Amino acid sequence: MTLKRRLPFLRWSVLRMAGSGTRNIVTTGQIGDGREAAAVAYVLANARAGDIDDVLATIDKFAYEESMLINVGDEKGALLDAAVRRADPKLALELGTYCGYGALRIARAAPAAKVYSVELAEANAVNARQIWAHAGVADRVTCVVGTIGDGGRTLDALAAEHGFTAGALDFLFLDHDKDAYLPDLHSIVDRGWLHAGAIVVADNVKVPGAPKYRAYMRDQQGTRWNTVEHKAHLEYQTLLHDLVLESEYLG
Ligand SMILES: C[S@@+](CC[C@H](N)C(=O)[O-])C[C@H]1O[C@@H](n2cnc3c(N)ncnc32)[C@H](O)[C@@H]1O
Repeated sequence: MTLKRRLPFLRWSVLRMAGSGTRNIVTTGQIGDGREAAAVAYVLANARAGDIDDVLATIDKFAYEESMLINVGDEKGALLDAAVRRADPKLALELGTYCGYGALRIARAAPAAKVYSVELAEANAVNARQIWAHAGVADRVTCVVGTIGDGGRTLDALAAEHGFTAGALDFLFLDHDKDAYLPDLHSIVDRGWLHAGAIVVADNVKVPGAPKYRAYMRDQQGTRWNTVEHKAHLEYQTLLHDLVLESEYLG
């Protein structure tokens, strides 16, 4: 592993992200220097069409060598893959699409699943759809623009247009606004979509951090949820640590 891969602050794209990028990401869903569109162009130019493995590897290569991206990444992505395989979903939902990397990993690990991803920013939906089309999964991976907290509009759309019914949801990946993890989980549970045995994975529980979500899962351990905390590193470097929570819904 090169020093630049290990130490994120040696990379100019990381320093840009740590500056104005963190402000931009909250308001626009993008870092603000065009790196997300550049990642799409890089994938279309370099990854074999129809080859999910190659598309994911090309996105990882871009994030390591060109510009850091805030995907779940290769290391935590392996934890995500294992949790998806454990859930063996027919229906999976991700919150926070970004460039479409996480949803593509879910689709790869669950070849029979319909995968939905809810994203705040239309520009990210446009990018992700290009990535999914290039990987050959556009027929079963769908981005819905909105938020779970938008007063019921997105929840109603998932129910009315995309087959989200009682007990239908097998797998949920939380990777969006860290303060929204807990309220959005409650909204989804209140709709009754998760069945006993469904799996919920939450990224970035340590960095940037979702302390209320972590405390809730600790409090509910063995009653409504059974949670394993996976130690990992923040995406695309090995200096900073992160936590991925994998929780089984007990009903
Ligand atoms: C960390 S990125 C997601 C990375 C993606 N899951 C992956 O692994 O490739 C966070 C994304 O969540 C989006 N976002 C932020 N708040 C949101 C919300 N309340 N609902 C849906 N998306 C949101 C941002 O626009 C951004 O695209």
